[in-house]
Amino acid sequence: MIKMLITGAEGQVGQALKQQAVLQGIDCVAYSRQDLDITSPSMIAMALHRHQPTVVINAAAYTNVERAEEEPINAYAINAEAVQSLAEACHHQHIPLLHLSTDYVFFRRKKCSLC
Ligand SMILES: NC(=O)c1ccc[n+]([C@@H]2O[C@H](COP(=O)([O-])OP(=O)(O)OC[C@H]3O[C@@H](n4cnc5c(N)ncnc54)[C@H](OP(=O)(O)O)[C@@H]3O)[C@@H](O)[C@H]2O)c1
Repeated sequence: MIKMLITGAEGQVGQALKQQAVLQGIDCVAYSRQDLDITSPSMIAMALHRHQPTVVINAAAYTNVERAEEEPINAYAINAEAVQSLAEACHHQHIPLLHLSTDYVFFRRKKCSLC
């Protein structure tokens, strides 16, 4: 039986996933940022250990594109490093991780030559 763990559950995608889980009768644990900050490897480990999900969907992200340019370190910590931690923790426990991407990807230091 599927047991889904959603991160970033209070966001747009997270809320839609929660609704769908209810409609489809899927067992679902939904974590807001407050309860599971994905930049914290120990919080990730605790949540996986506690719920033993069969799949994790990462809907947590730093999505404010304009502010991301002013806060690149914070954006990178959430959108890159934390996702790596999540992927490693899931891999370690043989749990598939579904991560949503975006077309709003840009270089950190200088503008892309194609922009
Ligand atoms: N919405 C779409 O149509 C769409 C389409 C394609 C792809 N996506 C992708 O789907 C993902 C989610 O998008 P969204 O539209 O749902 O964004 P959103 O509404 O901004 O939701 C993102 C959620 O992540 C949370 N979050 C931020 N940092 C976190 C952290 N360190 N730990 C845990 N949670 C954290 C945010 O909490 P706070 O509000 O408290 O910061 C917010 O609840 C993104 O990767 C986006 O690129 C979205």
